[in-house]
Amino acid sequence: MTTTPRLIPTLPGRLYTSPEFFAREQEAIFESLWFCAVRCSELASPGAFRTVMIGRENILIVRHGDGGLRAFLNVCRHRGARLCTEEAGEVRRTLRCPYHAWSYDLDGALVAAPHLARMPDLDRAGYGLRPVALREWLGYAWLCLADEPPPFEESVPGAAAERLGEAAAIDRYRAEDLAVGRRIRYDVRANWKLIVENFMECYHCPTIHPELTAVLPEFARGYAAQSSVGHGAAFAEGARGFTVDGGAGFGRLPELAAEQDRRYYAITVRPQVFINLVPDHVIVHRMFPTAHDRTVVECDWLYSPEVIESGVDLSRSVELFHRVNVQDFAACEMTQPGMGSRAYRAGGVLVPSEHHIGAFHGWVRERVGAEAAPPGSESDTP
Ligand code: FES
Ligand SMILES: [Fe+2]
Repeated sequence: MTTTPRLIPTLPGRLYTSPEFFAREQEAIFESLWFCAVRCSELASPGAFRTVMIGRENILIVRHGDGGLRAFLNVCRHRGARLCTEEAGEVRRTLRCPYHAWSYDLDGALVAAPHLARMPDLDRAGYGLRPVALREWLGYAWLCLADEPPPFEESVPGAAAERLGEAAAIDRYRAEDLAVGRRIRYDVRANWKLIVENFMECYHCPTIHPELTAVLPEFARGYAAQSSVGHGAAFAEGARGFTVDGGAGFGRLPELAAEQDRRYYAITVRPQVFINLVPDHVIVHRMFPTAHDRTVVECDWLYSPEVIESGVDLSRSVELFHRVNVQDFAACEMTQPGMGSRAYRAGGVLVPSEHHIGAFHGWVRERVGAEAAPPGSESDTP
């Protein structure tokens, strides 16, 4: 009989420090898979737009007059100027290039250009903006730059269903109807994979998360709820809600099943989303990896619109996971420099409660390339 070793290897350090490997990840991961880009409610009225980086591409997302969203590569088809240079804004009916004023409608079709009448042979249909696949889920716009996107249902809602044991479990939180009570943007000086790995394990919980383990006592034992299907961590008996001091939260979202009450569920949707479900709110992290050693994380705390409209104080509710975030990201930043050390040339190890991170490592290797290493980098490491 073979037994699983207690310690299994991590990825080697260079995969967290190499700009070349990061470029390969951008192509094979962020520019190929479904990427959670913006909260749909940020684009309230027709003509409202947001721009966002996905991998190395700048994407323009706009609310159409028919109420739907459209996404395009934010690149003018004339000479390549960035069409919308702001992060957010609003246009009337057309997107007009700031360089020579080619104009596109909200479907991306080229509708006007100076002296167009003198260019009768210009096939306007051939010069529309390049569309990007878009799906809405949980109230977010998920985009995919691939020519043939992977099946959305399987890769995105399917990841939550696999973790929770049933597809309906996450739907009961009605995240698409919730409102953003708070958004905090964290600029983390660490490789995105360190942030994923940290989110997946709870071996560190007793060391760095005193407030979280007070509300979720099983986390003090260091076992990650994410490793067992359907399991949610139970609140401490004395905790009245998921708040920084265990005080009352805001009740329970109306459609939750009884077994979802007083429990915390964490879900990773690869490559860049973490979802945290508690009875009265949903916390969504979206990672925007900007360099091999830098990741911007946008975290939204979503509450029922009635809670937000009541003007009630959200601070103790927000503070719990904000502290967790600060503690986690400090740990990731503490780890990043070690990735470049000769001590970590062959990587580190995963203890049994972290073994499921090995599946993430296997997934990275598979997506980016079997050898998962830039040529020559081993010998380049000091
Ligand atoms: S580059 Fe956009 S109109 Fe010329
Ligand atoms: Fe943590």
